[in-house]
Amino acid sequence: MKSPQEENLELKPFELLLDQTTISRRINAMGQQITRDYKDKNPVLLGVLKGCIIFLADLIRVVNLPLEIEFVSATSYRHGAKREEELLFSGPSHIPLKGRHVLIVEGVVDSGRTVSTILEQVRKVEPASVEIVTLVDKPGSHRTEIDIAYKGFSIGNEFVIGFGLDNTQKYRNLPFIGKVIDIR
Ligand code: IMP
Ligand code: MG
Repeated sequence: MKSPQEENLELKPFELLLDQTTISRRINAMGQQITRDYKDKNPVLLGVLKGCIIFLADLIRVVNLPLEIEFVSATSYRHGAKREEELLFSGPSHIPLKGRHVLIVEGVVDSGRTVSTILEQVRKVEPASVEIVTLVDKPGSHRTEIDIAYKGFSIGNEFVIGFGLDNTQKYRNLPFIGKVIDIR
């Protein structure tokens, strides 16, 4: 049984931020850009689980090139009520990326810690090139210097859900992006 407080943490009110048409138009444009930039490069799209899933599925269908997909997973664990999170990776070390053109595909970049850690790990295996692709970016939240080559949308510091993005593992299946309303 969950306490009312726990229930409340999982189910939060939200409002529409980016509708389906807006998202699909933007993904189409990103796909066309990647198609032009990676012609004859046979890129590997390295999805960061789980937030990348819907975005990656839509993106690869509008990249008109031979390509491969691989995945890494990044899970952040909270230590009790403390704010610090520990990142646990199922890293890219076992994926043959040496000499390949790699695109790291994320659902959302917040502090930038996840994506920059993955970038560091990918660079160790000497790819031909590596760039970051994200559907949503929160530039005001970055805590590390990151260069994002392909960005769907820049938003503020709000917490967003849907289109693969979760709040305590829920809402990933929403076909649009919503913004969680802070009711405090
Ligand atoms: P980072 O702070 O850039 O390392 O992002 C860490 C992770 O936090 C992301 O990969 C997401 O899983 C999650 N995250 C950050 N902001 C949001 C958000 O607005 N909605 C859903 N998940 C988020
Ligand atoms: Mg999450």
